[in-house]
Amino acid sequence: MPARAKLPGLRRAAATCRGCPLHGPASQTVFGAGDAKAPLVLVGEQPGDQEDRKGHPFVGPAGHVLNRALEEAGIDPERTYVTNAVKHFKFEHVPERGKRRIHKPPNLRELSACRPWLAAELALIDPEVLVALGASAGKALLGSSFRVTKQRGVLLPCPAIGDYQGRGDCLVATIHPSAVLRADDREAVFAGLVSDLRVAVRALD
Ligand code: URA
Repeated sequence: MPARAKLPGLRRAAATCRGCPLHGPASQTVFGAGDAKAPLVLVGEQPGDQEDRKGHPFVGPAGHVLNRALEEAGIDPERTYVTNAVKHFKFEHVPERGKRRIHKPPNLRELSACRPWLAAELALIDPEVLVALGASAGKALLGSSFRVTKQRGVLLPCPAIGDYQGRGDCLVATIHPSAVLRADDREAVFAGLVSDLRVAVRALD
């Protein structure tokens, strides 16, 4: 972790991170992207298959859902910074599914190994509002007792992690956008995501 680096320096350093074993099978580190002065930072879980190939966060199916939800909530995606709790794609191969790389959620050790990068991003951007997308992001920011079902959609106290001190009540947790894609009642689940994002929008005003 380079001292006093700005986001481009952090990104370069993270490209060679060996802080946990996930760098081995993954194609590349997927660092955060977007407006370095964004008032709103969104934190996902980890890059997916497409993000791993392209090197950018949220450019696959979950990213499309997220962008639609942001627009519906009245947030300009250009004025956000999007990152992940874990910067490498974790996956497994399942024989029945051929060559497909099947996403595996990061464990607590991987979340904490990657947390210094997240803390450094947040300390530099110092957003007004932070959105945790899903359980892994919530655990990375608030600790292992975080439960998205219980804590979503309300303003929570900002976490202090690393050099990031937060600003009072600044955190809104919600579901991960991929939950919309897995749901039977996609519209209702999507509406819940939008409604939680609106809480974040109101906190910006
Ligand atoms: N899911 C995430 O949590 N992050 C991404 O970048 C893509 C999918």
